[in-house]
Amino acid sequence: LIPAAELESYRLHPALAQYARHVNPAFVELLNVLGYGRLYQRALDVWVWDHRGNRYLDCLAGFGTVNLGHNHPRLVSRLESFLKSEALNHFHVGPSPYMAEVAARLARDGLEMALFCSSGAEAVEAGMKLAQAATRRNKLVYCSGGYHGTSLGTLGVMGDPRKRDAFGLPNGRNIEVPFGDIAALREALSRRDAAGFVVEPIQGEGGVRLPPAGYLEQAQALCRRYGTLLVLDEVQTGIGRTGSLFAFEKDGFVPDVLALAKALGGGIATIGVALTGRALHRKAYGSMDRFDWHSSTFGGNSLSCVAAIETLRILEEENLVANAAARGAELIEGLRKRLSGHPFVKDIRGRGLLVGIEIGPTDATWLGRAAPAAVSLVSRKLFGHWVSLKLLERGIVCQPAALRWDVLKVEPPLTIRQEEIALFVDAVADIFAEYCDLPSLLGDAAKRLARLA
Ligand SMILES: Cc1ncc(COP(=O)(O)O)c(C=O)c1O
Repeated sequence: LIPAAELESYRLHPALAQYARHVNPAFVELLNVLGYGRLYQRALDVWVWDHRGNRYLDCLAGFGTVNLGHNHPRLVSRLESFLKSEALNHFHVGPSPYMAEVAARLARDGLEMALFCSSGAEAVEAGMKLAQAATRRNKLVYCSGGYHGTSLGTLGVMGDPRKRDAFGLPNGRNIEVPFGDIAALREALSRRDAAGFVVEPIQGEGGVRLPPAGYLEQAQALCRRYGTLLVLDEVQTGIGRTGSLFAFEKDGFVPDVLALAKALGGGIATIGVALTGRALHRKAYGSMDRFDWHSSTFGGNSLSCVAAIETLRILEEENLVANAAARGAELIEGLRKRLSGHPFVKDIRGRGLLVGIEIGPTDATWLGRAAPAAVSLVSRKLFGHWVSLKLLERGIVCQPAALRWDVLKVEPPLTIRQEEIALFVDAVADIFAEYCDLPSLLGDAAKRLARLA
């Protein structure tokens, strides 16, 4: 446990002040108010260290970016040798053998072609653009609770009004449907004017929400019937996170577009890609006057592609996808065993190493029954961050989902071992054991906030 006095001193680090002055003052202020403020400086595998040398177990993994673990030695040495080899990185006037190899390694039946970029939002946008170009329609259907990035294009399919509504978006024409509701989707698509249905197989930032069994398969069938492309956003679920290389492989269908990014660069390089089928690619970009409609200076640069190739090799040779499935099952089982029946644990769910703990008073608590609206508001704003903070003080980095602060999202690197899963489960169980009623939790939170203020 990090002593409270030491915690205070983290707030004074000059780099934090400089970041506040020149990058994002509100973020630093929020971190300090909540007590997260510290500077992380070094990382290896599942561990990160702050500037005072304190070690933390990383159960956030850069929001699902560091699937290989931090600074995987094999990836680092491959990138070192690439940089020393005088290879071309940015060139642009001829085909890149590195892009070709990444595309070939990722290709599946129906997903043979690749559009390269550098981030998750760009990969989803590449899918949205391709859908529009291939169908000659411009409307998009998306899900409430969906998160696809914060670029202007992806904000048009942002399933959270707090993040979306401040911007003058073309999303007046887009249609939001509840996630997992096949009847609502049918209704939206049956107008036959939607270019794409943009959806995650499991909503990550929306609170680790899994759709009902068969939803995506039925959604794909509806898309085919009404001439809409299914754009599957696996930016967070892809690259082994859910216990298969891609989440859709467990669901018995192939999307029209598959968006990938984050972990594809091995937690070091930035790379995104949208995969699609040959016929759709031809329709959208297959002529001389359209071949350059998707382009990006950094997209598919050689260094990032080399990182992606080595990442895919490491995943396979070190059996990390199977490890994600096995450790994820242990994590869910351990959490359920230790937390089931707790008055503030509403649900524990997930697949592979993408796991959510939904926190908030269940109907079993008297407050949950007496003032459900007020309690639900407090729990949505406070509980996830409170548990995160308590975990941080026990040397574990973990955060609530971006759109659901009442859901603690657990997504460690896929290299995590049994003993580290046990360490996490013990820490969460200890924290919940301290808080079996709302007054004790609120009292503690108020004391902490008062001290920091
Ligand atoms: C499912 C999903 N799609 C897209 C994005 C956006 O990715 P990026 O932040 O790289 O633009 C994210 C980021 O968290 C995501 O989780």
